[in-house]
Amino acid sequence: MAETSSVRITCTAPVNIAIIKYWGKRDEELILPLNSSLSISLHQDQLKSTTTAVASPAFSEDKLWLNGQEKSVQESRLQALLHEVRRRAAKRPLEDVQREEEVVESVNSEHRLAPPSWHVHISSKNNFPTGAGLASSASGYACLAFTLAQLFGVRGELSGIARRGSGSACRSMYGGVVRWTHGEQADGADSIAVQVIPESYWPELRVFILVVSDLQKAVSSSEGMRRSVATSRLLQHRATVLVPELLRKAEAAVKAHDFPAFSQLAMCDSNQLHAICLDTHPPIFYLNDTSRQIMRLVHAYNQACAEIRAGYTFDAGPNAFVLTTARDASKLLGLIAHFFPPQTSNSKRYIRGLPLTTDPPSLELQCALGFEPQPNALHYILCTRPGPGPQCIFDNEAHLLNIDGLPG
Ligand code: DP6
Repeated sequence: MAETSSVRITCTAPVNIAIIKYWGKRDEELILPLNSSLSISLHQDQLKSTTTAVASPAFSEDKLWLNGQEKSVQESRLQALLHEVRRRAAKRPLEDVQREEEVVESVNSEHRLAPPSWHVHISSKNNFPTGAGLASSASGYACLAFTLAQLFGVRGELSGIARRGSGSACRSMYGGVVRWTHGEQADGADSIAVQVIPESYWPELRVFILVVSDLQKAVSSSEGMRRSVATSRLLQHRATVLVPELLRKAEAAVKAHDFPAFSQLAMCDSNQLHAICLDTHPPIFYLNDTSRQIMRLVHAYNQACAEIRAGYTFDAGPNAFVLTTARDASKLLGLIAHFFPPQTSNSKRYIRGLPLTTDPPSLELQCALGFEPQPNALHYILCTRPGPGPQCIFDNEAHLLNIDGLPG
């Protein structure tokens, strides 16, 4: 039954790392931020979510599988996203509705549209470890919003749909460098993401993700920002006074390919976020000793170079996102691998992602750091760069659900 009439589509979406952070909401339910933010979408060759959605008149309910495990669809953010995509699909122009059973063009291929009244089966997975604190909710919700929009034929501005799942997800709806404008309207209609530059604009940019060993369960971003909004007076000052200026400068630096300025702003903004966390009551500690050693290492490297050639930024966890350019990539990676060596059993898969050589650090640089190498402090290092936004995958092998909407 499902076989003849079901519609199936598979898409992918990137992880993003914030350079000017989103921290604090003015509306919890609509997920509207106190301040605008800026991020880099990372390349999907290294980090991506993949989602398959199948809609059919034969389905009696919506269903969801995450990384192969069936989950409840009742979670409120998932419901809000599903509701929003169906609401917009129901407002599709009449000519689209009449063509419902016909083939429509989608990105670079063709598929049929599903009516919004049909139930949907969804399966989503990440090509990176979900538990490693690598912003899986941003890529996951962006991928879900994009896939459902393709399935139900919703066109135009889609980042507002992704935002209903998770604030930072709206920035994963584009590639390159992306701004999420906080917006003014009470219904959130102007709280959307826009692309500042495409990924091809600054191809030399590199990002190393240093996955820090940490068994502690951090306070979730949502809970952390709720607590900061309630208790931190610094947060209000940041949102209204500091961020607008930081954002303007960061965008200008990106457009001018000015790595020292861009990277300096990224470090300052990351440190400001963690200062707000300390100003929160009770305080929140996302960074650990390894995070702080990485910060020292980056500053020592810049000092030795007599200019800023590396930067760092940390989200709500101890993992470091180290920023640099192709020119310094091998030298910086060699330095990081020297001071944070792998366990011998882990050395093969220690440096992952982009194929890069590691230049051993000079003795002078080793002495300048002033701390001993720390084996086992990192799980692994993932080397990546800015990448494109969500994409439809027209490959039958890529589907996570069969045409009857079931895994396998
Ligand atoms: C520190 O987007 O995860 O990564 O909107 O409540 O889902 P919710 O929060 P989330 O917060 C991300 C916070 C951050 C900074 C950023 O990505 O801008």
